[in-house]
Amino acid sequence: MSRPETSAVSITDFRPLARRRLPKVVFDYLDGGAEGEFTLRENCRAFEDVTFRPRHAVAVPRCDLRTSVLGFNLSLPLLLAPVGYSRLMNPQGELAAARAAGAAGTAYILSTISGHRMEDVKAATSGPAWYQLYLMGGRGAAEAAIERARVAGFSALVVTIDTNVAGMRERDFRNGMKEMLGNSLVAKIPFLSQFLTRPRWLTGFLLDGGVPKLPNIVIPGQGPMPLIDVSAALASAAVTWEDMRWIRDLWTGPIIIKGVLTGEDARRALDEGASAIVVSNHGGRQLDCVPASLTALPEVVEAVKGRAEVLMDGGIRRGGDIVKAICLGARAVLIGRAYAYGLAAAGQAGVSRAIEILRTDLERTLKLLGCASIADLDGSFVNISANWPARKRFTAASP
Ligand code: FNR
Repeated sequence: MSRPETSAVSITDFRPLARRRLPKVVFDYLDGGAEGEFTLRENCRAFEDVTFRPRHAVAVPRCDLRTSVLGFNLSLPLLLAPVGYSRLMNPQGELAAARAAGAAGTAYILSTISGHRMEDVKAATSGPAWYQLYLMGGRGAAEAAIERARVAGFSALVVTIDTNVAGMRERDFRNGMKEMLGNSLVAKIPFLSQFLTRPRWLTGFLLDGGVPKLPNIVIPGQGPMPLIDVSAALASAAVTWEDMRWIRDLWTGPIIIKGVLTGEDARRALDEGASAIVVSNHGGRQLDCVPASLTALPEVVEAVKGRAEVLMDGGIRRGGDIVKAICLGARAVLIGRAYAYGLAAAGQAGVSRAIEILRTDLERTLKLLGCASIADLDGSFVNISANWPARKRFTAASP
């Protein structure tokens, strides 16, 4: 049987491979969205509203995919988004993803809800590492985490603002996510069969020590927080604008605000000192029926007016999607599921293959567009559907 990391032709090939490898509760946690999953679907579908305007009969022997984000040089315009509970997808989890990011010449963003120590994750990657902050465990735990991140060499702090309560991820409820991570053995019984049908995953999980603690959330006087179910975790993790000054005092490096969908929030983020903004709806996992990130991007780019770099995430499955986002004003994109499916299917090799697929896509798309570099992309390479609220042709590239 061919190995997943070599047989996958596109990112969508990794999804069934991940499904085959993971117990249902873990696969659905990775794959699913909130409520009716409208936004989850829209994130991908919205890319179909943007079509290309190629320049033909142009020879493009080589393409320059490089860019920089906040002054960090990246070999291609994508970064690995924070993905919580990665250690449940593969025992190497965050270490594997960070290694693959560094090997590909890009940055890795470590989630607060991570199963490996942040110092080990930083040491695993040769690329930039950023730390994503939730306030789980309270301010004391967050202060300790911010200081550890600074000492370990994380170069930017990503503050996620769209999770003041967990989205209603119905699949997690149906699959018994809460029961599986709770303490009652009896409550787990109805859900155990999902694990018995995935012996390879189960063996890896048990050899890894079972349910990991959260080593980057150390509660003063108590130690590392136990892994709790995601809705309980996020309910205690909210960051508000009122916390920003306190965070600013603790972290002197760049702060990136993730989870912006409107011009108003973008302006507020800049007022609070953000160096960059991520247009994001959390991969359709929080408030359902918000617009696709791509649809929200033009409004945010317009509001920011070049005063900060604008990144986006949500629904990126092809290199062509990345090109479209850049044409609409994004400096670069974050990918979440696109690499997490690869991680689940084949560990580090799967993440590397996912990035390689997107790199090859990017290069081919640029050549077919008649554009020699990421820096040359602008609104003149795309048409936007007449149905969009802010239908505009952007002539400037990223800020
Ligand atoms: C996430 N996301 C996320 N974001 C964040 O700020 N902190 C986190 O811990 C997590 N955890 C998480 C887990 C899983 C399984 C997924 C799929 C996503 C959101 C993530 O950073 C990013 O915004 C989305 O994944 C982007 O959408 P795509 O690329 O998955 O479509």
